[in-house]
Amino acid sequence: MDEETRLIHTGLEAECDARTVGPAVQRGSTVLLPNAAALYDGTLGYGRAGLSAQFALQQALAELEGAKAVSLFPSGLAAVTASLLAVLKAGDHILVVDSVYKPVRQFCDAVLARFAVETSYYDPRLDADALLAQAKPNTRLILLESPGSLTFEIQDVAAIAAAARARGVLTVIDNTWAAGLLFKPLAHGVDISVQALTKYVCGHSDVFLGSAATNDPKLALALEDSVHEHGWQVAGEEAYQALRGLRTLPTRMARHGQSGLAVANWLARQPEVLRVIHPALPGDPNHALWKRDYSGACGLFAFVLQPGPEKAVEALLDRLELFGLGFSWGGFESLAIHCGPQLKRRRHAIDHGGPVVRLHVGLEAVDDLTADLRRGLDAYASAVL
Ligand SMILES: Cc1ncc(COP(=O)(O)O)c(C=O)c1O
Repeated sequence: MDEETRLIHTGLEAECDARTVGPAVQRGSTVLLPNAAALYDGTLGYGRAGLSAQFALQQALAELEGAKAVSLFPSGLAAVTASLLAVLKAGDHILVVDSVYKPVRQFCDAVLARFAVETSYYDPRLDADALLAQAKPNTRLILLESPGSLTFEIQDVAAIAAAARARGVLTVIDNTWAAGLLFKPLAHGVDISVQALTKYVCGHSDVFLGSAATNDPKLALALEDSVHEHGWQVAGEEAYQALRGLRTLPTRMARHGQSGLAVANWLARQPEVLRVIHPALPGDPNHALWKRDYSGACGLFAFVLQPGPEKAVEALLDRLELFGLGFSWGGFESLAIHCGPQLKRRRHAIDHGGPVVRLHVGLEAVDDLTADLRRGLDAYASAVL
């Protein structure tokens, strides 16, 4: 054969018996089928459906979530939107927690509305009965996010899931705060447990991925159909990174939780701080539910400053050296944002008594982080005076 033919058909299957700790990462859009009959017999026929590392990740996440099936998505946001699109149709109504991640709200208001799905936003402090009292005959689904990722409202997930099921309403939860580890939504009766693997599972602020887990075979099929119908695809390298993150997830989470609580307790003693919003603190209004349902805390929480102008909050943030200013969380590094502009959009906004700052406490030494925050609080105090 000519050299150009030989170069195309050589080097395809290198023999390698070495067993690595992680799974092989296959790259490929084309999947070669063994014979003509296999082209149409339902055999995996195209790389978009996933290859070795994606299947390994689905298996590992099923273990984490206590799920029979897990679908993968290219981002956490895609995992939420695809879970909604998998089950909703024109004419449906959904109840969405008012503390939901902002781009999900935008998806409901912009996309679902265009396809005649109506969204009502409910107060995260409602109990199951009060929430279900807001259901209409056409309510198809409740979307929970618990705790909310800005002001950390925890819902009675088991009670809501049971009440919803009794009325034939599905429940979907964004469980990113717990990373599938600290709280197990499926064991509490939720139909679909979603998380942004981008955060704690990947854990290094350099990968986007999302997952949706379920124990219901019909929902599992609907989710997989949703993946294929929308053309979602997850790369093998990204799936591998998530698997790598999973190996150290419990260890990292223990440290995030411990350091977060240490920083929270320190903040509670600072004169510029009115209140710390952290469900693992005994005085927090969400503490009882956290204690009942969660096996720990991650590193994400907020605090309320003594009243002061936005400019003073900016002075605090701009003074920080170790805390980066960024909207994400779940990585090894500490981050901070102020929440005011986002909180204003809520239907059920409450007055926190002062500006709210959210922190992600990373894996740095606690004393270094509190020294950084002390400098920020000094800048706040000077700007308020
Ligand atoms: C609670 C929550 N859910 C979902 C997402 C979306 O994840 P991704 O960035 O992977 O789309 C985020 C991102 O910040 C989030 O905070």
